[in-house]
Amino acid sequence: MKSRTPAKVILFGEHAVVYGEPAIAMAIDLYSIVSVEKSENLLIDNSPPDRKYHSFILTAYEKSGYPDPVHIMVKSSFSPSSGLGSSASVTVGTVSTLLGMQGRWSKEVIARISFETEYAVQGRASPTDTSTVTSGGAIIISRGNVENLLWSVEKNGITWNIGKIDIKPIELIVANSGIRGSTAHLVSKVSSFVTKNKFGMDIIREIGEISKNAIEPLMDGDIEKIGSLMVKNNKLLNILGVGHEATTRIIDSVSSFSYGAKITGAGGGGSVIILPREREKVIERLEYLRIKYYNVKMDREGVSFIK
Ligand code: PMV
Repeated sequence: MKSRTPAKVILFGEHAVVYGEPAIAMAIDLYSIVSVEKSENLLIDNSPPDRKYHSFILTAYEKSGYPDPVHIMVKSSFSPSSGLGSSASVTVGTVSTLLGMQGRWSKEVIARISFETEYAVQGRASPTDTSTVTSGGAIIISRGNVENLLWSVEKNGITWNIGKIDIKPIELIVANSGIRGSTAHLVSKVSSFVTKNKFGMDIIREIGEISKNAIEPLMDGDIEKIGSLMVKNNKLLNILGVGHEATTRIIDSVSSFSYGAKITGAGGGGSVIILPREREKVIERLEYLRIKYYNVKMDREGVSFIK
């Protein structure tokens, strides 16, 4: 059995979501494929599993309750550690396939087990990535109420509500700075910024307001407005200290050819999302800077089985 799972971008609200503010994420049409076959011994990509290299897949296998050994094979069309949710995509694909083999397939169950897997491996996580790539389309995640609730996920007394947003499809360019930012390190950097600065929580709340204000323009396909909110959100992320010269350089060099551009995910390098006004010019700039990029569209389906 095989599952195909999209990657994701965070459109608005990263970091603020850690403090309970809403964030908006979207599944994109870059995919990982996980296939599982019965096997005499547990194997991952033809080798015995090693927790150091296969921590997500191995934990996903353990949490999916499949009773027999299997051979799990993974292919991915996008780079790991680029802020596009590769660990979530592979985790969700593994859980989906193993639940399918047990006749227990349900997106809600996949989202929960996958979140538990990420939490166990990383020691910290919000369910943003795992829920987005499971569901497909665009989602809002919040500790407050959301419309069109898909499911809620609880951990350590915190409840996250995940709701679907029916957005007009947008086409983005994702540019990867090639610098790897550590999510855990950046989350703690923001935490010390917020505790040390009187206006720290104001910035967090302002980002939350941007996510709320982005819902209508996203549903209406108001590209100008979406772009200007991206620019604002990015300024606030820079104030929080998660910018990096490599991402700032990309954002500055495409700004006159785009409606907006911002860091996506944890920052400190990682990837940038660009809403292009003149696509060819943006691409020309990225190629000149030798930046790896992907043209992406929204994925509507989320995780699914394939032949
Ligand atoms: O690095 P990513 O794409 O998984 O994004 C992290 C997003 C944060 O808000 C910084 C952390 C989180 O768990 O939500």
